Amino acid sequence: MSNLCEVMAIVRTNKMTDTKKALEEIGYPSFTAFRCFGRGKQGGRLKELAYPVSPEIKEKIEQAPASFIPKRIIMAVVPEDTVPKIVEIIIRVNQTGEHGDGKIFVFPVEDTKRVRTGDSGLEALL
Ligand SMILES: Nc1ncnc2c1ncn2[C@@H]1O[C@H](COP(=O)(O)OP(=O)(O)OP(=O)(O)O)[C@@H](O)[C@H]1O
Ligand SMILES: [Mg+2]
Repeated sequence: MSNLCEVMAIVRTNKMTDTKKALEEIGYPSFTAFRCFGRGKQGGRLKELAYPVSPEIKEKIEQAPASFIPKRIIMAVVPEDTVPKIVEIIIRVNQTGEHGDGKIFVFPVEDTKRVRTGDSGLEALL
């Protein structure tokens, strides 16, 4: 069985469309996306936000002891040898240089089945 990996990328909400387009352009149109809330090293501070906020909201966020920032999770199962390319493209689209640009995790995947055909592994992905 070919080696498969899950690439889980947690990105800014306003980067979803560009990320989706970029993955499609390099031949990976299939993935699952979730809305989520998260916090990184800064514990959900302002620069992790994807958009400007009013001074009132800004103050609230600054004072909150444990805030969470809206993010998007992209979950794609892909052949292992394509992981570097996919990770690189996600970084290229999402990197602004500010805190909160996101995180990418890569996991091994035991198997995949395409329900329509019963195909397994790589066959089920391509
Ligand atoms: N160790 C982690 N485990 C699980 N999810 C994480 C982890 N670190 C970050 N995340 C998720 O990724 C999102 C983006 O994290 P973020 O980009 O702020 O990471 P960071 O390590 O704080 O880096 P930076 O200093 O660039 O902000 C978080 O809101 C959270 O959802
Ligand atoms: Mg952070």
